[in-house]
Amino acid sequence: MSEQPIGVVGAGTMGQGIAQVLAASGFEVKLYDVADEQLGRATAAIDKGLSKLVAKAKLGEADKAAAMARLDTTTALDALRECEVIIEAAPEQPALKEKLFRDLSRLTHDAILASNTSSLSLTRLAGVCERPERVVGMHFFNPVPVLKLVEVIRAEQTSDATVARIEALTEALNKTAVPVGDSPGFAVNRLLVPMINEAAFLVQEGAATPEAIDEAMKLGAAHPMGPLALADLIGLDVCLSIMEVLQEGFGDPKYRPCPLLKRMVDAGYLGRKSGRGFHVYE
Ligand code: CAA
Repeated sequence: MSEQPIGVVGAGTMGQGIAQVLAASGFEVKLYDVADEQLGRATAAIDKGLSKLVAKAKLGEADKAAAMARLDTTTALDALRECEVIIEAAPEQPALKEKLFRDLSRLTHDAILASNTSSLSLTRLAGVCERPERVVGMHFFNPVPVLKLVEVIRAEQTSDATVARIEALTEALNKTAVPVGDSPGFAVNRLLVPMINEAAFLVQEGAATPEAIDEAMKLGAAHPMGPLALADLIGLDVCLSIMEVLQEGFGDPKYRPCPLLKRMVDAGYLGRKSGRGFHVYE
């Protein structure tokens, strides 16, 4: 592995988790965000995440300190110039991601530009970049420090060398890379989010309460958490936007977003991050 740092763009939930895992795995990390306060919140969350591992005796105090020392935060995109791989985990807005990728592809020459997008087309993102063969999808799952999967998504333009580098990085993070084509929702979200959407229809129709649905899926399908608790974890706005991408991408009415999901997003009931979704959080 190279000694050059790995860049992470965006210090939200996913960017925090990715930066934590990189730093704990021995990589120098440059975590970029437009907002200084968000970088402060991210550093505190990463510290807390590593402390959980120390409390469980999965990490020593000195290893935690070393991991924190490998984490550098910045509000200057230019600071990512020296990175060997840059993992983008910015909000799921196509125009924002396209601008970031265009800028990053001009800022760097050889760096691999990986996106953690949960549903947008990698081929389209690569299309706005210089040397698009280095663009690839590297899709992590929430909570990143816990879940082992990384979907590796190949755009039309992605080179074999780029895929091989991302697979090696995934292995170095003690995670498993699964190759997936550049199709709307990739594999996991195409299966998982319509299930969440269907659970919202059950609530809307009064067929079952969120508590009943979650308990049923935990006990009857051995899911670690029910679909509506999972929706609250992912964010209802993110679930809605994935359904919209599926509906637009396939043009199939079976992907119609549940009106209740839309209403909840309009009301600002976004799940854990807003304190209320299908369940209420203190
Ligand atoms: N850093 C380090 N470790 C952490 C951590 C963090 N930030 N957060 C949790 N952990 C550890 C805990 O310490 C705990 O460790 P032990 O097993 O050693 O005790 C372990 O992870 C489990 O955590 P908890 O005990 O707090 O909680 P739990 O056992 O109830 O599990 C859960 C919680 C991991 C979220 C589990 O319910 C689960 O896996 N749920 C399904 C999540 C899922 O499906 N995610 C995918 C969402 S889709 C997505 O992300 C893609 C997208 O594009 C939208």
